Amino acid sequence: MPQPLIERYRDYIPLEPGDPIVSINEGSTPLVEAPRLSERIGAKAYLKIEGANPTGSFKDRGMTVAVSRAKGRGAEAVICASTGNTAASAAAYAVRAGLTGAVIVPEGKIAIGKLAQALIHGARVIALEGNFDDALVIVRELAERHPIELVNSVNPYRIEGQKTAAFELIEELGGPPDALSIPVGNAGNVTAYWKGFQEWDTSPILYGFQAAGSAPLVDGAPVANPETIASAIRIGSPARWEEAMNAFNTSRGRVAAVTDEQILDAYSWLASNEGVFCEPSSAASVAGLLTHGLQTVDGMDKPETVVCVLTGHGLKDPDTALGTAPPVINCVNDITAVEHAVFD
Ligand code: F0G
Repeated sequence: MPQPLIERYRDYIPLEPGDPIVSINEGSTPLVEAPRLSERIGAKAYLKIEGANPTGSFKDRGMTVAVSRAKGRGAEAVICASTGNTAASAAAYAVRAGLTGAVIVPEGKIAIGKLAQALIHGARVIALEGNFDDALVIVRELAERHPIELVNSVNPYRIEGQKTAAFELIEELGGPPDALSIPVGNAGNVTAYWKGFQEWDTSPILYGFQAAGSAPLVDGAPVANPETIASAIRIGSPARWEEAMNAFNTSRGRVAAVTDEQILDAYSWLASNEGVFCEPSSAASVAGLLTHGLQTVDGMDKPETVVCVLTGHGLKDPDTALGTAPPVINCVNDITAVEHAVFD
C-alpha cells in the first residue's frame, strides 16, 4: 500500500509536532517510459502520471499538507478558488479532516468530472460569474475576513507537499532528469518542483508551457480575459509569477506557449500512442516539447532525459475526449452487422 506522502518525506515537510496527518495515500505516482514520444523528440521521455493520485490530480500532494496544517491549527473550514482540480482535492481532504469546504469556480468553465467530485464530497460549490483570477481575489479577501483556511497554492504548505514529486523523480531515476516539462497555470506547481529539486541540490532544465490564449508569463503581462480549451490552466494572472520566472531563468529553461490545436493533438496522440489518458491541460507539457523541442542556452548539452508532468487524469474531462475522439459505431443486434462494424 502506498505510504502517505507526509510519512514518506516526513523530514522535508514542515508540519508542527501536533498536526494530524490528513491523507488519502497520495503521491508515489507511476513514472512511465514513453518510447514513442522519445522517438519523436530525440531524448528519453518519461511521463509522471499525477492523475494516479486519489482525486486524479497532483493537487492532492499539496492538499494533504495544507489540510493537515489547517486541522492542526484548529481550522473548521477550508476555501479555494479553482479551475476544478483544486476544488475536487480540497473537497475530498476536507471530508477526511472533518472540515467543511467551500470552492469558488468560474461558472461554466470547469470540466464536468471535477464538478462532480467537488459536489459528491459535499463541498459548497459556488459558480462565479467571472474567471479564476476573479475568484482568487475573492477567496483571498474572504480568508482575511473569516476564520477559514485558504488552500490555494498561495498557501505555502501546498508547495511543501507538491515539491515531493521532484523527490520521487530523483529517487526513481537515480538522479534528476536532465529536463522537466510542465504545464503552467497559477504557477504553483512549477514553483514546487523547483523547490524540491533545489532542496536536493539538483537543477534540471525547466520547460513550462501555457495555453496561447492564457499565456501571461510568455506575454510578460497579465491576460484580462484568458481563453483556452485547457480549462485547468485558463488563468490570466498567476499568483506565483515571480517564483516561476525565477525557476525558468535559474534552471536555464524557458516558458513558451502552445495553441489549443497543439494541445489537443498531443492529448489524443498520447492516448492513442502511449496508452495514457490525461486531461488537455496536462498534455500541454507534451505539446510544448513537440512544438518547441528541447531548447538550450549558451551551448549547453541537449537534455537526454526529460520528464513530462501529466498533472491530471483524462476522465476529469469526458466532454473534451468525446468531442475529440472518433464517434461510437451504432449497430443493430445482428452478427453480420456487427461483423461489418468490427472489421470493415
Ligand atoms: N494541470 C492541471 C490539470 C491543473 O489543474 C492545473 C491547475 C495546472 C496544470 C497548473 O498548475 O496552477 O500550479 O501552475 N489547476 C488549478 C486548479 C488552478 O484550480 O485546479 P499551476
